[in-house]
Amino acid sequence: MTDIHGAVRRFLLSLGEVLTAGATTHADAVAVDEFARLASVLRTGSSQAEAAMPGILPVCRFWDEALDRAADGPAVLAGHLRALGPSLRWTQNPNYRHRPPDPAFLENYGYAVIAGPAGDDKPEAARPLVAADALAVGVLLLGPGTYYPAHHHPASEIYCIVSGDAEWRRGDTPWRRQPPGAVVHHAPNLSHATRARAEPLLAVYLWRGDLATCATLLEKDLEEN
Ligand SMILES: [Fe+2]
Repeated sequence: MTDIHGAVRRFLLSLGEVLTAGATTHADAVAVDEFARLASVLRTGSSQAEAAMPGILPVCRFWDEALDRAADGPAVLAGHLRALGPSLRWTQNPNYRHRPPDPAFLENYGYAVIAGPAGDDKPEAARPLVAADALAVGVLLLGPGTYYPAHHHPASEIYCIVSGDAEWRRGDTPWRRQPPGAVVHHAPNLSHATRARAEPLLAVYLWRGDLATCATLLEKDLEEN
C-alpha cells in the first residue's frame, strides 16, 4: 500500500526547493516564502491521508508524456508526482463544466488536489489526498495547444511549471513563455490566462487565502474566443 502522506511530504520538500530556485523577482520570493511557511506546517502536521480512490479524466492521456518531458526541467519533482500519480483524483472546475470555453476544452483540461481543505461537502473527486487548512496544492494538466482563457479567483496563487513550454499572461500584459522550473505568481483577483504550445503543460499550483471560491472565467475572454 502506498504511503501517501510520506509521498506528499517528499513531493512538498522537492517543490520547496524548485520554488526557491525559480523565484526571480522580489515579489515572487516573498510569495514563495509565505507558501513555504504554510507547506512546512503541513509537512510536520499530523493530518492523515485518506484512503485513495483515484479518478481519471480524458486529459490524463497526456500524464506520462508530461512527466517524461520533465527530464529537461525539475525532474526530481516529476519523479515525486509519478509516485503520486496512481492515487490522484482528477477533477474539473464546475464553472467550466457548466460552460466550457470551447468544445474541446474539457477533453484537454483537468486538475488533481494533492493537499487542501478536506471539505466533506465536496464531490469525491475534488477531495485532497492529504488534509490541509491554510493551503491548497495540486497539479494542472493541459493538452497540447489548449487555450485556458482569462480567469480570476480571490486566492493568491503560485504556479511551478513541471513540463511544457507554455505561454502565460497576467491581466493585459504581453504573453510570456515560461519554461519548466519557472515560478508564476498571480495576486488575488488578477486575471490570468495560459496557452499550451506543442507539448502538454504540467504545472503545480499552490493557493492560499480564499480556498473555497473556484476560479471564474472572464466573460470578455469567453466572447472573444
Ligand atoms: Fe489561477
